[in-house]
Amino acid sequence: MKRVLVTGGAGYIGSACTEYLLDRDYEVVVFDSLVTGHEDAVDKRAEFVKGNLADRELIIDVVKNGNFDGIMHFAAFSLVGESMTDPGKYFRNNLGAGINLLDGAVAGNVKSFVFSSTCATYGEPTQIPIPESEKQLPINAYGESKLMFEKALKWYKEIFGLNYAALRYFNAAGASKQFGEDHYPETHLIPLVLQVAQGKRDSIKIFGDDYPTPDGTCIRDYIHILDLAQAHMLALDVKESGHYNLGTGNGLSVKEIIDVSRKVTGHAIPADIEPRRAGDPPRLIGCADRAKEVLGWKPEFENAHDIISSAWSWVQKFPNGYDK
Ligand SMILES: NC(=O)c1ccc[n+]([C@@H]2O[C@H](COP(=O)([O-])OP(=O)(O)OC[C@H]3O[C@@H](n4cnc5c(N)ncnc54)[C@H](O)[C@@H]3O)[C@@H](O)[C@H]2O)c1
Repeated sequence: MKRVLVTGGAGYIGSACTEYLLDRDYEVVVFDSLVTGHEDAVDKRAEFVKGNLADRELIIDVVKNGNFDGIMHFAAFSLVGESMTDPGKYFRNNLGAGINLLDGAVAGNVKSFVFSSTCATYGEPTQIPIPESEKQLPINAYGESKLMFEKALKWYKEIFGLNYAALRYFNAAGASKQFGEDHYPETHLIPLVLQVAQGKRDSIKIFGDDYPTPDGTCIRDYIHILDLAQAHMLALDVKESGHYNLGTGNGLSVKEIIDVSRKVTGHAIPADIEPRRAGDPPRLIGCADRAKEVLGWKPEFENAHDIISSAWSWVQKFPNGYDK
């Protein structure tokens, strides 16, 4: 049986990954400070250590004595807007605190390290779908902090032999049976649209309908969190350290997401057109052929209806998220 440390396992994606591993007989220790996560999002079958990766002694001690086969590192801050007003917060947490974890991985002789990276490391791409070979020129401090951690990983591999997979996800979406999306503040499109269907918001804002796309709204690649979880599990056995995109290769526009959500929820979901936001590329779609070929990844959720239905089921079960 494999033993895995999951940092950020009280967050949106980390909680579903923890559940996915436990369902497949892995032993999981969740390490999370709960700074943006929720105690109720920690799967009850996991061991939970409440702590901050910035506490260097603590995390090195946990990893050194934990007898882990692998580490999945989800813990980070991820609000793009905030990263442009308080970049230090992002570099300290996403890079600095993450380095403590890497030193723990070396001290604990951990065999593999799976990192939550992001398509935000590409900035404004020149090719669609985006291959891993695309130039990485982030346009915000969040993307830069993730790229810096990717670079640190390369050196930990070269110097200490730490095998790694930096998984560059596109837009994580959907829910598992137990765990779903409950961020505060919420900035992601699908949960915001579903809040309109729940009656928590009057309408959804569409930022720009004059982009060079078929319906004029921005196109993004939505990937289900259980497909992300499958890729993380496979990446624990990574033979070729490096970078892997995780996306569906199919984009959906903002208007398409709203239309599918109307069908799934049966709600009219009024929408208001607002001016474009700075720094929103018209299309972000990932080519995930490398993850399929090298990791053997087989995503299962390939249509928007299934992804949004899973999110809607979770929202109906937990109308106020984890807030009791
Ligand atoms: N949500 C997406 O669409 C998306 C897309 C690409 C990449 N990512 C990356 O995936 C990861 C998870 O994203 P999410 O949406 O689940 O975020 P989240 O905010 O829901 O989860 C992050 C978790 O990490 C914990 N955490 C943060 N800093 C910590 C620290 N120093 N010590 C201990 N715990 C800490 C938080 O309490 C939280 O539980 C992040 O690294 C994010 O950058 C997310």
